[in-house]
Amino acid sequence: MRKIYNVAVMGATGAVGNCFLRILEERKFPVKNIRLLASERSEGKSLKFAGKLYPVEILTHDSFDGIDIVLASAGASRSLEYLPSAVKAGAVCVDNSNAFRMDGQVPLVVPEVNPEKIKENKGIIANPNCSTIQMVVALWPIHKAAKIKRIVVTTFQSVSGAGQKKIIELREQTKVFLAGKKVKPVEFPYPIAFNLIPQIDVFLENGYTKEEMKIVNETRKIMGDPSIQINATCVRVPVFFAHSESVNIETEKHITAAEARKLLSKAEGVTVIDDPANKSYPMPIDAEGKDDTFVGRIRQDESVKNGLSMWVVSDNIRKGAALNAIQIAEHIIGNA
Ligand SMILES: NC(=O)c1ccc[n+]([C@@H]2O[C@H](COP(=O)([O-])OP(=O)(O)OC[C@H]3O[C@@H](n4cnc5c(N)ncnc54)[C@H](OP(=O)(O)O)[C@@H]3O)[C@@H](O)[C@H]2O)c1
Repeated sequence: MRKIYNVAVMGATGAVGNCFLRILEERKFPVKNIRLLASERSEGKSLKFAGKLYPVEILTHDSFDGIDIVLASAGASRSLEYLPSAVKAGAVCVDNSNAFRMDGQVPLVVPEVNPEKIKENKGIIANPNCSTIQMVVALWPIHKAAKIKRIVVTTFQSVSGAGQKKIIELREQTKVFLAGKKVKPVEFPYPIAFNLIPQIDVFLENGYTKEEMKIVNETRKIMGDPSIQINATCVRVPVFFAHSESVNIETEKHITAAEARKLLSKAEGVTVIDDPANKSYPMPIDAEGKDDTFVGRIRQDESVKNGLSMWVVSDNIRKGAALNAIQIAEHIIGNA
């Protein structure tokens, strides 16, 4: 008989939490019982899973009795506070927050890149930042073939990357703007409708934002190569779902755009859409709701000896969060 598991979703009412429920259903994850956890704000709510309504329970240290797997997406402070209790109760946790990503004891995993790290877990496995995940999925096959020395990335990140309330803010601001009225930002520091904000997360002393340094540090950890030089600029854009990235790399060995295209078209989790003559390239509207990371505009960087530029798009809620975590959970139960 196939083994089935008790699963807890921490942050079940959020953007990522909702997606966890949909993907568990879609991929027929062997769920025996599901426990939906959120804050007091969600008391009395119920959510549908596999055709049945389940009550949302308030997250406490006792929420994990009998739970085998925790899928956590309730923010870093909740992960720091509650995941040790889950581990003590015997659960294995896949954490979407940044609480444990750079902890030397915690594997940081993208299954297309470093699935072998999953077995080193001591109860917690960290899911990387959404922008990091899609970039390493696209770059890993090239790194294996030609060794990447330097990455320059600019991200164009959708509002859903900042949670449910930000999705509502873009929708509401768009209506207000189109009605010719003055937009008053609440969640974002500036209007996001018909604007771009070149700041995601807080600024650090070096002038980069925390989001930008997450890409730098997490990429090195996942690709297992601290020598890769990385420069990131992260921008919030008025798109609801899917992040886009302009990625430029320098490699040790020469690799042509055609060779990179061929490698990527065979790579796990990647779809190449790259036919400029027919105006064919990936866009957020194509990636929304899809599992793959889409790569296009692959071209030689003519300003350096061994360089390539490309455009990488993926659904930040799916591959950037819930799907990657569930793929990790599938490895944990030996179902990958
Ligand atoms: N969105 C993305 O693309 C993305 C990608 C990668 C990683 N992540 C990470 O995933 C996490 C959640 O992101 P999200 O986008 O889903 O945010 P969200 O839509 O704002 O949802 C946050 C969730 O956390 C719960 N929560 C907040 N405070 C809580 C508390 N004190 N106790 C218990 N539950 C609490 C909320 O419950 P209530 O509804 O009751 O408030 C809600 O379920 C964050 O750590 C984020 O960095 C997000």
